[in-house]
Amino acid sequence: MSRIPVLTTVGEVRKTVGEWRCSGRTIGFVPTMGALHPGHLSLVSLALEHADRVIVSIYVNPAQFGPDEDYESYPRTFRDDIDKLEKVGANAVFLPEKDTIYPEGFSTSVHVCNLTDTLCGKYRPGHFDGVATVCAVFFGIVQPDIAVFGKKDAQQLAVIKRMVLDQRFAIKIIGADIYRERDGLAMSSRNRYLRPIERMQATALFRGLSRAAELACKGERDAGILCEVARQVIEKSPLAVIQYLEIVDQDTMKSVEKLDGPGLLAVSAYFGKTRLIDNIVLDPDASYKED
Ligand code: PAJ
Repeated sequence: MSRIPVLTTVGEVRKTVGEWRCSGRTIGFVPTMGALHPGHLSLVSLALEHADRVIVSIYVNPAQFGPDEDYESYPRTFRDDIDKLEKVGANAVFLPEKDTIYPEGFSTSVHVCNLTDTLCGKYRPGHFDGVATVCAVFFGIVQPDIAVFGKKDAQQLAVIKRMVLDQRFAIKIIGADIYRERDGLAMSSRNRYLRPIERMQATALFRGLSRAAELACKGERDAGILCEVARQVIEKSPLAVIQYLEIVDQDTMKSVEKLDGPGLLAVSAYFGKTRLIDNIVLDPDASYKED
């Protein structure tokens, strides 16, 4: 039996969060789609460092999946997720029904311009509208002081930061570092789809990104060269099919040709049917340390 409160309605969330606020607590919020792994839990721990009470949502958001994507088959492991959240110290879980978030007549879509045209936005039309819309709804329901998003989804983090700035939501958005497996693969709910051989080869992503980061630290600033180096390392894994590999500005997601400050090297690649994303910050001013 779980002791962490599992809230399913807007009224329950407002009541719980309202009580916390009345007793002078600050509120942290971590939105997720469940199938929780240690990467998600690291966001909850970070939120607990920045807020007195933390509420985590678990909601597989239909609006951010394309017609050919995995909405129906997306892993749903709610019971396990709730246990994990209780262990890590979250104070409440918001587990809404589909219609609680999108009731009949729901007609609003939030579109963040420009920075949704590149990287994943180019290949997943409408995806970031779905993300921004659901996050705006959650922000309206929870009204947190802070919300934590992972840097693994760097474009999502940039979109949410921009939306919060533009809409004047009084919420501080905090980015959490990418949580990786021991061999470097970024944790993802979709890693479970990888066949063993694909899982092995998927480590090439982080190897490629790291190689470019190392060269950038040694002084290489040409984005074309840095991308080419990463590509060569990744493509040593024959199963890797790169969708994009690009260096962009971290805030605007605009393509960068020469690094004159930190740039984000972002990659998306298929291993079999599974699409993975990863990224690394290239900082030409960071000092390079030989092991
Ligand atoms: P989901 O994929 O479940 O991820 C929830 C949060 O966990 C996101 O902020 C994501 O960036 C972060 N995350 C996932 N894997 C991570 C890792 N290995 N290291 C650090 N952070 C990681 O992202 C979504 O859900 C949805 O788009 C959502 C924001 C909930 C809106 O529906």
